[in-house]
Amino acid sequence: MPTFALHTYGCQMNVRDSDILARRLRAKGLTEAETEDEADVVIVNSCSVRGKAEDKALGKLGLLCATKRDRPNRVIGLTGCMAQRLGADIFKKLPRLSFSVGPRAESLIPQFVERCLETGAEQLCDFEVRDAPPETPEMARDDLSRLDCLNQGKKADKADDEPVVTVAAGPVQSFVTILYGCSRRCSYCIVPSVRGEEQSRDPRDILLEVKAEATRGVRDVCLLGQSVMRYGLSRFQWPEDIPSPAGYTEPMPRLLEYIAREVPEIPRIRFTSGHPNGVTAELVHAMANIPAVCPHLHLPMQSGSDRILKEMNRGYDSATYLDAVRRLRAAIPGIAITTDIIVGYPGETEADFEATRRVMEEADFDNSFIFKYSPRPGTRSALLEDSVSDEEKCRRDAILLADQDARGLRNNARWVGRIVEVLCEGPSLRNAARWAGRSPQNKIVLFEPDDSVRIGSFVRVRVKEAHAQTLYGDLVRNSSAV
Ligand code: 5AD
Ligand code: SF4
Repeated sequence: MPTFALHTYGCQMNVRDSDILARRLRAKGLTEAETEDEADVVIVNSCSVRGKAEDKALGKLGLLCATKRDRPNRVIGLTGCMAQRLGADIFKKLPRLSFSVGPRAESLIPQFVERCLETGAEQLCDFEVRDAPPETPEMARDDLSRLDCLNQGKKADKADDEPVVTVAAGPVQSFVTILYGCSRRCSYCIVPSVRGEEQSRDPRDILLEVKAEATRGVRDVCLLGQSVMRYGLSRFQWPEDIPSPAGYTEPMPRLLEYIAREVPEIPRIRFTSGHPNGVTAELVHAMANIPAVCPHLHLPMQSGSDRILKEMNRGYDSATYLDAVRRLRAAIPGIAITTDIIVGYPGETEADFEATRRVMEEADFDNSFIFKYSPRPGTRSALLEDSVSDEEKCRRDAILLADQDARGLRNNARWVGRIVEVLCEGPSLRNAARWAGRSPQNKIVLFEPDDSVRIGSFVRVRVKEAHAQTLYGDLVRNSSAV
């Protein structure tokens, strides 16, 4: 039986796509290789969001294709955003590549793999932007019979400057894509050109997938979309026979309510990534009133300078952003808000940068992911001169990171002495005597377990120490049933 390995770069969307791909390959009879070296089929799921992520994937593919000299029957495939961006040109760089498939054509990969295994074919490709196939009941059933196969703690490979998986897929947490593509036009972003226009999935398909996740033990589901609050806002009709007892009219709050109602085995629901213009009164109400919806939101701000935000075509200014934060905090006490920031956008002055520092402080972020601007081919900002030197980008990056460390520590210190509900993920990677889990705010909590603690159980932990990224605490006994 041929074996496969997947190598994933980039965002949560790619992590999820790799999960689905693994499931499809298993359905074709392939099994997961113990190590990548052994695998008969290796597929790189790539990211294009910054140049560095592409360089890494290209380097990896170069090495993999070189192994075909000794193992000519090995199948090396490429998918994800970089596959789409480079199209068939990739074969000029890597003529021994077996196939390259764009992210909206990934359902073809099992066929391509089969053909390459049988015939040794090379240079197969498909970059069509298809409507996403609905998740069929068969696929969901397939999940049920293979409870152990998905998401086994695999995370995307991340370099310092790559997108960060803010919620890690693991045995008790997983992602479910609800919105493909993106129809916003932020000046710096390559995603719309590689992932296509936004397309919302049918809530009934989403429900099937969430239920399948629940059955395999997942307790924390993160709903994914590049701009997730756009769910249901174009080319979409909410099914008339799915009511909203709370009277919501917007699709995103309706979806949250629907999943919480139909899948009570999932006590934690999150969604990412947000956009301040999507923070509507209904959405805030849903977050505040649906107990399963976690007090946690990743809300990329990108910059605190109104001039730069305008250049970026983000569709809001810093006051609007801060107003969204204020409304969230007022309605959802203790909510954790995290963000993405780009430093060194073309023309970003010291004054623009200082504005970003100020607004970040005012927003009081729990965590921030800082990225150095990287011009991406075909985007509007790539036409502008990349005027901020790499040295200066690094300086600004370091300053924002230091600010965030201090802020994260200060924010986390507020939890000391309080009891938090923790979803147990398993022994900590650094110190197996401790267990790790997450609070509803998505903060990592470390504690010493007792015999009752299981992966997927909820325990209560009294926080005794706070670091910038982690909380430490003691188990509050007799508390496994929360
Ligand atoms: N350069 C640097 N960072 C970028 N991001 C998106 N495009 C670029 C780019 N061209 C960042 C944004 C986004 C995160 C996923 O990646 O901050 O929110
Ligand atoms: Fe990277 Fe964006 Fe593609 Fe995700 S959607 S893999 S962040 S380019």
